[in-house]
Amino acid sequence: MTPGASVRHLACIMDGNGRWAQNRGLDRTHGHMAAHHAFDAIVDGALGEGVEWLTLFAFSTENWARPEEEVTFLVHFLAERVIKRSVSRMHQRGVRLRLLGWEDPRIPVDVMDRLREAEELTRRNTTLHLTLAFNYGGRRDLCETARSLVSQGVTPERISPDTFARHMALPELPDVDLLLRTGGEHRISNFLLWHCAYAELVFLDVLWPDFRAPHFQHALELYRQRQRRFGAVGPATAPGPDHPADDGTAWPGADGRTVLPAVAAQPGRTGRAGLLGLPTTIASHLGASLLNGLKETARFALLQFSDDHGQTHGPEPW
Ligand code: IPE
Ligand code: IPE
Ligand code: MG
Repeated sequence: MTPGASVRHLACIMDGNGRWAQNRGLDRTHGHMAAHHAFDAIVDGALGEGVEWLTLFAFSTENWARPEEEVTFLVHFLAERVIKRSVSRMHQRGVRLRLLGWEDPRIPVDVMDRLREAEELTRRNTTLHLTLAFNYGGRRDLCETARSLVSQGVTPERISPDTFARHMALPELPDVDLLLRTGGEHRISNFLLWHCAYAELVFLDVLWPDFRAPHFQHALELYRQRQRRFGAVGPATAPGPDHPADDGTAWPGADGRTVLPAVAAQPGRTGRAGLLGLPTTIASHLGASLLNGLKETARFALLQFSDDHGQTHGPEPW
């Protein structure tokens, strides 16, 4: 990936609400209620950065296992507070809101109605596709896809990644570029398993209710320092938080861990690359090629040298 490349699809596991509340001696539901500023921050950030797809994990198929009061609160809260409060503003800003997940008898009809109304109102918008994963699980998505393929009589030889994706719950949903999870856990928790095959993973320690614009920018900065190869061979690895450069100055990131300054991966800003006046990735690539070339030259020269002096390197074929 070219440093500075943009994120087309950002997916976010909004985690840490319960701990945020518990840290304040409050009931877990207060953490969910306090999360609307974070919701605004990520939507505003996505709109500001030209992200086309934003998928938010609002309620997982496993979250039904939580205490009944919390489940009831969560299910109502999404429709009553998040959607009711924000839908007209989102609509004005060209956001298309969609649900990803499955209906369930445990989801009250009025909640479903409100969500469907929001989908209907915004269905012609194209600036940002905001998908709320609600009663969603990646494994169920895969199982339902398999079921759909079988029920529609798709023969085994016609099953390819493209065919498979066309049978998924939301076929238009593109591959995730950046998967962001707040709350300090380093796991995917059954989110978009298919779509995250080559996602860059960014885990921040910030608890979701505290998530704001600087955290959004920090996540994007970390993403821009990554180098995506998709299984191919790319240029030498650019220095970034995962591959510390030897000439960067460490600083504590918003996630509490030490990362390098954002400029470390910017064109011409690191030591050796800076001296050459070249972008870091190109400079490192040239450096590696140059070194290999020199080694080859030296090897060849050694062979020549020993031949010139009548030495052999093992038995000749004749
Ligand atoms: C994420 O926060 C919100 C949902 C799962 C809906 P949590 O409620 O999981 O918060 P923690 O992880 O327990 O702190
Ligand atoms: C993932 O968070 C689901 C959502 C954010 C909706 P969880 O808090 O449910 O995940 P685990 O249980 O820590 O893996
Ligand atoms: Mg959690």
